[in-house]
Amino acid sequence: MKTASAPDRRPPRSWRNRRTAVLAGAAGTLVAGLVLTMPNTASAATTLGASAAEQGRYFGTAVAAYKLSDNTYSTILNREFNMVTPENEMKWDATEPSQGQFSYGSADQIVNHAQSHGMRVRGHALAWHSQQPGWVQSLSGTALRNAMINHVTQVATHYKGKIYAWDVVNEAFADGSSGARRDSNLQRTGNDWIEVAFRTARAADPGAKLCYNDYNTDDWNQAKTQAVYRMVQDFKSRGVPIDCVGFQSHLNSGSPYPSNYRTTLSSFAALGVDVQITELDIEQANSTWYRNVVTDCLAVARCNGITVWGIRDSDSWRASQNPLLFDGNGNKKAAYDAVLAALNSGSTPPPTTAAPTTAAPTTAAPTTAAPTTAAPTTAPPTTTPPGNAGCTGTVTLNQWPGGFVATVRVTAGSSALSGWTVTVSLPSGSAVTNTWNAQASGSSGSVGFTNVSYNGSVAAGQSTEFGFQGTGTGPGSVQSCTAR
Ligand code: XIL
Repeated sequence: MKTASAPDRRPPRSWRNRRTAVLAGAAGTLVAGLVLTMPNTASAATTLGASAAEQGRYFGTAVAAYKLSDNTYSTILNREFNMVTPENEMKWDATEPSQGQFSYGSADQIVNHAQSHGMRVRGHALAWHSQQPGWVQSLSGTALRNAMINHVTQVATHYKGKIYAWDVVNEAFADGSSGARRDSNLQRTGNDWIEVAFRTARAADPGAKLCYNDYNTDDWNQAKTQAVYRMVQDFKSRGVPIDCVGFQSHLNSGSPYPSNYRTTLSSFAALGVDVQITELDIEQANSTWYRNVVTDCLAVARCNGITVWGIRDSDSWRASQNPLLFDGNGNKKAAYDAVLAALNSGSTPPPTTAAPTTAAPTTAAPTTAAPTTAAPTTAPPTTTPPGNAGCTGTVTLNQWPGGFVATVRVTAGSSALSGWTVTVSLPSGSAVTNTWNAQASGSSGSVGFTNVSYNGSVAAGQSTEFGFQGTGTGPGSVQSCTAR
């Protein structure tokens, strides 16, 4: 997504870093004041969302629909965040309170608010052992399996095209040293319930990234982390459609920030999935841990963004721990300044092609059969003449036997774009079946994709994304990117 207020010109990174370091301890208001007095030099972003966007990331929060009418709450939400997750409104008990009767009122409210404020939405959560309506809790076997499939289909279809990423399955692994699946009514329908949920979600909304989401998976040495890693490795090897892994990261003295957190993120990313921090909160808002989490995400090319689990401490599900970035009155806390400074001094490394990090020695992942589908590949950007206006396009391809989803990032060159067209060349026999955030011309051979009304303007150096689904083999790179 495009940065709301991208600077026109930026000083060299070393200079920016130095200035950020000087200002890091200053109050947020002082930073803003100084920025305003330096109109001719590019400034560090002053909100979490804008700063994350400058790093090609998002910064999100959990949102409760009933709080949108609270002025302090919505003022902070609209100013700081560019991704939202409904805190409870998309869960099974909320969306299908009785079998076959779907209720989307409060979730729609959040989605509408997000769309009208230029924010994206993480859908949460389609299949989970918790917050199930009573009628689901009393089902088992085939009846429960079919109810799950219908639920995933209905909800993902209702929100088709509006969801950036879905938590398709939430919290399916047990805590402790077993590395086993958590026992639940869904698990008792058969071990394949997770992959069935993912395949069902892909069929319903092929444009959404599909995530597995869990907690206590931050520490690379934990059996639970290793068990989830092995599941993702297995899914990738068998072509089960999974695009991302969510790390809830509810951190506290019992589940502290682990020094190998970055290893965890990069190891999962090396399997060919994106990683996202999905429910971050930290007991007493430890600034060092907050800063470390941000820095680790920025260090991993496939870490898409960070979501905190609420806005003010008083909004938190763990309010007594004061774990968020704003106090009960909506004032920025020290942890907010630490997060913003870490975002502003971050760097986005080029996409990694490194070999997967090996599993921790004590609980090494078992060897699995060679993948039948290639891991998503990010093609090198199509180059435009140096210093020129124009744009570049990069493709991230999720290919499975017989089909693919391509995500294309369009990045403006040295001048802002007011419109763009990307062309790709499809091998014969392949065809585009569905496009989002762009208008396609043609469906086979050489296919052109032109911006839609809301993503044609891209500031210099900034980028936007569109995507398409198809049958056959997807493109590994773009043919051309043209500014209009
Ligand atoms: C929590 C909400 O924050 C609470 O309001 C609700 O009462 C219980 O659920 N893991 C998840 C989230 O995936 O959905 C949970 O959210 C927190 C733990």
